[in-house]
Amino acid sequence: MDVQHLPVLVAETREWLAPWRGGLFVDATVGPGGHAEALLASSPDVSLVGIDRDAAALAQAAPRLARFGPRVRLVQANFHHLEQTLAGLGVRGVAGVLADLGVSSLQLETASRGFSFRRDGPLDMRMGMSDVTAADLVNTTSEGELEKIIRDYGEERQARRIARAIVRARAEQPIATTGELKRLIDQVKGPRGMPGERIDPATRVFQALRIEVNQELAGLERFIDEAVNLLEADGRLVVISYHSLEDRIVKHGFRDLARGEVDPVTGRTRSESQLIEVLTRKPVRPSEEEVAFNPRARSARLRAARRL
Ligand SMILES: C[S@@+](CC[C@H](N)C(=O)[O-])C[C@H]1O[C@@H](n2cnc3c(N)ncnc32)[C@H](O)[C@@H]1O
Repeated sequence: MDVQHLPVLVAETREWLAPWRGGLFVDATVGPGGHAEALLASSPDVSLVGIDRDAAALAQAAPRLARFGPRVRLVQANFHHLEQTLAGLGVRGVAGVLADLGVSSLQLETASRGFSFRRDGPLDMRMGMSDVTAADLVNTTSEGELEKIIRDYGEERQARRIARAIVRARAEQPIATTGELKRLIDQVKGPRGMPGERIDPATRVFQALRIEVNQELAGLERFIDEAVNLLEADGRLVVISYHSLEDRIVKHGFRDLARGEVDPVTGRTRSESQLIEVLTRKPVRPSEEEVAFNPRARSARLRAARRL
């Protein structure tokens, strides 16, 4: 299938990463390579390590970035282990790190990957390098645990009723496909969702399962710490997130690293513990034109920081 993934906030990403300074950049979520291509094209002095946990994404990025030759290295890895991954390549300092979180259009629109309630496929949702599928979760997790996942990661107010409906349905027959799960959620919430809800009624449950399957939030805080540790002085970190749970982790992570520690004796902030300056006071949002052209950009929020 020929699906095109349009990179989100490309001009803004370039502006904040400032690749014209040259140096080694890490694209921790290289996906099909849209942002990576823009960074590499910015200056002949840019080289790039592109990481993705999904082998299919790397297979798309490789031909797209081939013209940059040895300036590019692609690695299959989970960015939750950034320091270790880069140490394996002999890299200890970098000029910039980018993470464009979530799934690509390529993943979302491939029915067999099971990410989308708009396409019927096996209930999988693994981005790569995880063992548990969404079907494993919905068919084996206890009702209480399912409710918690759906509430915490989907911010779904009907979590209890949906968890109960799942457990009841699976007692008859395991839930195997995205279509079966979608129909079940529609039965609980009504096909138009709850009054005032403007998204598809299944959106929040699918988001919750995807986050749990891929442990998306668990490693994000650690990633921010490790990325900042790897940045050289004046190096830049840019993170683009797509829902409020991720954005909150990025916002708080940046705030803590910018604030530093207070010396209990003097009451003053230890300046050496202030590791970054936050460059974006508010998250950068895409323009209306970008959203009209690329609806996937709608929920994007970009935050940038500079290593002191
Ligand atoms: C939104 S896409 C990136 C698109 C890319 N920036 C572009 O413009 O072409 C996100 C990618 O990050 C990858 N990804 C998500 N979480 C990851 C993780 N923890 N480690 C490595 N890759 C991850 C996904 O597999 C997906 O390919």
